[in-house]
Amino acid sequence: MKTRITELFGIEHPVIQGGMHHVGFAEMAAAVSNAGGLGIITGLTQKSPEDLANEIAKCNDMTDKPFGVNLTFLPGFANPDYPGYIEAIIAGGVRIVETAGRSPEQYMPSMKEAGIKVIHKCTSVRHSVKAQNIGCDAVSVDGFECGGHPGEDDIPNMILLPRAAEELDIPFVASGGIGNAQQLVAALALGADGVNMGTRFIATKEAPVHQNVKDALVAASELDTTLIMRPLRNTERVLKNEAVERIQAKEKELGDDIKINDIMDEVAGVYPKIMSEGDMDSGAWSCGMVAGLIHDIPSCNDLVGGMVKEAESIIAKRLAAFAA
Ligand SMILES: Cc1cc2nc3c(=O)[nH]c(=O)nc-3n(C[C@H](O)[C@H](O)[C@H](O)COP(=O)(O)O)c2cc1C
Repeated sequence: MKTRITELFGIEHPVIQGGMHHVGFAEMAAAVSNAGGLGIITGLTQKSPEDLANEIAKCNDMTDKPFGVNLTFLPGFANPDYPGYIEAIIAGGVRIVETAGRSPEQYMPSMKEAGIKVIHKCTSVRHSVKAQNIGCDAVSVDGFECGGHPGEDDIPNMILLPRAAEELDIPFVASGGIGNAQQLVAALALGADGVNMGTRFIATKEAPVHQNVKDALVAASELDTTLIMRPLRNTERVLKNEAVERIQAKEKELGDDIKINDIMDEVAGVYPKIMSEGDMDSGAWSCGMVAGLIHDIPSCNDLVGGMVKEAESIIAKRLAAFAA
């Protein structure tokens, strides 16, 4: 399947694996890229630019296909060495960066000078337009359904994607809530040139996470995610668990007076325990509503290749029949 996104990134299928903290290691990115999609290493999961350089080198050993690195610009309390991470990306020969969190404007000149294609992930039409205006090559439009941070506007993809199509000239992918062929076709119909998936890729054979995480996704329904940190304007969609219950009890008790420190134990530094050790109640972890559509744990090759093949068949048969 050829789209503006496959052309832009030199990939076979218009399917991207979004950056995921403590999931987006070299194994994950290489598996998706080898499957013909675009795998992405999560930059900040690597504690330093040197660690990121090693992870990029490892991924280069595992695939000769294009892959990218995610750079998440965090709100407030942390200040990573972003110029150092960008240097590691450039030196490692990576030419695709997924930015997220805040506008990448400050870092655009250095990335553009190095010939890097930038896809900015954002949750609103206004931020998508801003990304286009500052020279991003593509946008990942992340709807309210998404795992992780959906922003504060609460606009689902059925509205957000066609609105993005009205305003954007650069290509965009649909992100949030996507996990199967029907949704890929719907995304294309709504104006996107491909899809970005997070949660769905965690439940794959190659995802370098504990089996408990994959099993939790297969067991979960579309009713099993919830939102936390709204009073902090840092809303996150997570899988319901005991830690999330504690967070929500505190949010109820403290209301608008809540501070990040009140819930720090449940939201900061918890990913290794969950993703590596499989301690599923030890903290809040990002998870999308698409969990309700996850019923198996395929290889990335079967997932990506199968989605595209089925999507082509839906277009050629089911949809073509309506136009006849
Ligand atoms: C466990 C997990 C961790 C994530 N970590 C990040 C991250 O560090 N940076 C980022 O930009 N997006 C992160 N995301 C968001 C994904 O890249 C993607 O935008 C999102 O998962 C899309 O929604 P979906 O899960 O419904 O497919 C994360 C998502 C999940 C599920």
